[in-house]
Amino acid sequence: MLSRLRANGLLDAVETCSRDELREVQLHRLRWTLNHAYKNVPFYRQAFDDAGVHPSDVNALEDLARFPFTVKNDLRDNYPFGMIATPMEDVVRIHASSGTTGRPTVVAYTQNDIDTWADVMARSLRAAGVTSNDLVHVAYGYGLFTGGLGAHYGAERLGCAVVPMSGGQTEKQVQLINDFKPDVIMVTPSYVLNIADEMERQGLDPRKCSLRLGIFGAEPWTDAMRKEIEERLAIDAVDIYGLSEIIGPGVAQECLETKDGLTIWEDLFYPEVIDPETGEVLPDGEEGELVFTSLTKEAFPIIRYRTRDLTRLLPGTARTMRRMNRITGRSDDMVIVRGVNVFPTQIEERICAHHQLAPHYQLQLTRDGHMDKLTVLVEPRQDQGVLDEEERVVIGKELAHSIKSYVGVTADVQVVEVGQLERSLGKAKRVVDLRDKS
Ligand code: DLL
Repeated sequence: MLSRLRANGLLDAVETCSRDELREVQLHRLRWTLNHAYKNVPFYRQAFDDAGVHPSDVNALEDLARFPFTVKNDLRDNYPFGMIATPMEDVVRIHASSGTTGRPTVVAYTQNDIDTWADVMARSLRAAGVTSNDLVHVAYGYGLFTGGLGAHYGAERLGCAVVPMSGGQTEKQVQLINDFKPDVIMVTPSYVLNIADEMERQGLDPRKCSLRLGIFGAEPWTDAMRKEIEERLAIDAVDIYGLSEIIGPGVAQECLETKDGLTIWEDLFYPEVIDPETGEVLPDGEEGELVFTSLTKEAFPIIRYRTRDLTRLLPGTARTMRRMNRITGRSDDMVIVRGVNVFPTQIEERICAHHQLAPHYQLQLTRDGHMDKLTVLVEPRQDQGVLDEEERVVIGKELAHSIKSYVGVTADVQVVEVGQLERSLGKAKRVVDLRDKS
């Protein structure tokens, strides 16, 4: 397949160039990015100065390791637009994702950035096996989340016809798939199984639907889940990775012909894997935390961003670029519930904002069919005395409403007795994840 794509001139030249050529492109772009960030974002200027480094110190890609990391809280501290490196007149799009507290993480794009993103998403779709003749059903959410619009622009750029369905409304998803007969679906892996359930509920055989291929990401999944999806819907299922801070979906994509992990589009996003405890760069092949530096972004250059995602770098197979293994976990306590990124601290804020609740809580994650279920166990404040069942239900509903409005996720809240939740003796265990067991 690769030779056919190459022969047709369908791959970007950089996808099959030599490693040396790739490194040359990366070094040139890295220097540009470091200068751009240093010159135009006070945060980076200060951080580089504090670390005693200057963009002109970079003579090789490895020199990047001397530069300081950027973490989610740095983006929060510069909320909303403090990290933007271009005049606001040049910004054409804003997206946002969950912060660790009420403030979301804001990212911005110039027209060139949007074009780069559309190009790299088109490249991802093509690597997944999509062609310009395909009809693509996009069931990632549209809006501040980068999934819907990222997939949409990429599919259009490749010349596909796009159905911008967005997330939710499962019955309608099934109706449109049945009537429009798309070839490709782009959605989270857990939600596609929900769609398959709904097909069966409506008396349709998911294996007989028109879909040939699914491009799944935005949440962790396993090879076992891939097998289940492929068997239930009789499709190929491939992995797509990305995060808003780096651009959105399309940072890395699994190639259909190898299905052996995700090719990182290294000409645009430079990866490193570090020891999450020491910050030291690890050799390829060793598991650690993934760190990215953007190489061409104008509005929102990002230097050594700690993704908190755990994986390892592998040599390239289908393309020149290196691959990454599936994400195996995170080095922080963020969980992804029905595709929504949730930090326990965001829920804690909602609990603390309720005058009848104490800051003792636990988040339990289970599966309800194929979908995640979040249960929040919380205690009333001691000065509330003994609450009857009706009062607990009312408080529970109030908190669930507040979590839905501010955090964007549906939770079942259970108000338990004072003292019922285990008290921590050190680091509180806020999240009990029973999803693989339920
Ligand atoms: O989830 C972008 C995206 C949309 C990727 C659609 C793929 C498809 P954020 O909302 O910023 O962006 O969340 C980023 O989601 O740091 C990972 O923890 C997780 N994640 C994304 N893709 C995968 C994947 C989008 N394929 C965070 N496997 C990341 C595992 C993933 N985790």
